[in-house]
Amino acid sequence: MRVFLSSLLCAAILGYRAGAVVIDDFSMTSQKFLSSGVPEGFTLDLNEERLVQFAEDDKPVWITEREKIRAKALGRKFFDITHTPWFKRPPTSLAPSLAYPAPDKQNLVNTVIANLTVDGMISNLQKFTSFRTRYYRSETGKESQKWLLNRISEITAEYASPSLTYLITLTEFTHPWGQNSIILKIKGASEAAAVENGTVVIGAHQDSANTIPFLPAPGADDDGSGTVTILETYRGLLASNYTPVQDVEFHWYSAEEGGLLGSQAVAQSYAQENVNIHSMVQFDMTAWVKRGTREEIGIVTDYVDADLTEFIRTLVNTYCGIPYVDTQCGYACSDHASWGKAGYRSAFGIESTFDNSDKNIHSTNDRMDISDEFSFDHMLEFSKLAVGYIIETAGWSKL
Ligand SMILES: *[C@@H]1O[C@H](CO)[C@@H](O)[C@H](O)[C@H]1NC(C)=O
Ligand SMILES: *[C@@H]1O[C@H](CO)[C@@H](O)[C@H](O)[C@H]1NC(C)=O
Ligand SMILES: [Zn+2]
Repeated sequence: MRVFLSSLLCAAILGYRAGAVVIDDFSMTSQKFLSSGVPEGFTLDLNEERLVQFAEDDKPVWITEREKIRAKALGRKFFDITHTPWFKRPPTSLAPSLAYPAPDKQNLVNTVIANLTVDGMISNLQKFTSFRTRYYRSETGKESQKWLLNRISEITAEYASPSLTYLITLTEFTHPWGQNSIILKIKGASEAAAVENGTVVIGAHQDSANTIPFLPAPGADDDGSGTVTILETYRGLLASNYTPVQDVEFHWYSAEEGGLLGSQAVAQSYAQENVNIHSMVQFDMTAWVKRGTREEIGIVTDYVDADLTEFIRTLVNTYCGIPYVDTQCGYACSDHASWGKAGYRSAFGIESTFDNSDKNIHSTNDRMDISDEFSFDHMLEFSKLAVGYIIETAGWSKL
């Protein structure tokens, strides 16, 4: 397996896109990193064997945690399937194919959109990026998760009407590594609709990671931006006293940066219990508008459900002030991939084309104040999109 990995790393080095900076940074520090122990505040065994899948048709391979971190530093994407050696659920286990009718709830969606603001996103992200790192195997990663959980409770207490409060449950999906995923559920008004047409899920990942996990990782764009974007969507829906017809869930995953660990655990658990999921949409990086480029919403077209993705394009045209652009992201690119693998429909919206996306991620420079290319107004467009997605798919019970 070491032979396999070293040849794989050579291939990765040779093939790595514009990776000079990342590789230099990594090799400069890697000597120290590889030889020194794990610092206080981290629970990580660099020698632990992990089962990792690098491509859809590849056989999973056992590599050490240290090798996994190096592979990621070299730009490789993967599922870490150590805890979830699945079982790939066939799409045939899905409910009969859903129609995606043209958006027809503009009046409702637009009243919610009119009340979205950047204020909460700014203050929430300021706090969220103040943790030294939100690494999923760190003490501060645990603290940031507890802070987020508490912030969601506060928003619920402040904005939910008494009748709505009754429909809301906030839970931690516990993981063995310490930082838990967070699941917020708004129960739909119609049990039958929830059962027949499924739960509507919007997600983002809460963890951050420096290329060298022990170094600081503010993770403002990756994925603090998605985290506070869907939080603002949630606040806006509550403020408008939104009651869905079908169930709606907001997911904030742990350990995306460890190989989609949190979302795989959640998706696998739903699949095992045969939970009917209508669809899942992921937002990972929603803030960056590269200087000199047109402001756009990136729609990922690989490893996603094509019909759902087309519906998301329609929603951008209907509810956003900027156009969409198609882009590709690769295998195991973000948490939507875990849902796809579990046989559910999923899609992925990102800040721009993959090429124009923020190159500060996984470093100490992934900060909200690094450049005016970091745009809360851009994030707000994704909050609007999420409002449209949720209301158009889960309905509004006052209809
Ligand atoms: C499920 O969705 C379809 C299509 O929108 C609708 O006609 C049907 O009434 C829904 N089922 C329930 C139980 O509400
Ligand atoms: C939405 O915004 C309007 C205009 O700013 C305001 O009058 C209204 O109270 C807001 N509604 C909610 C539910 O926040
Ligand atoms: Zn990342």
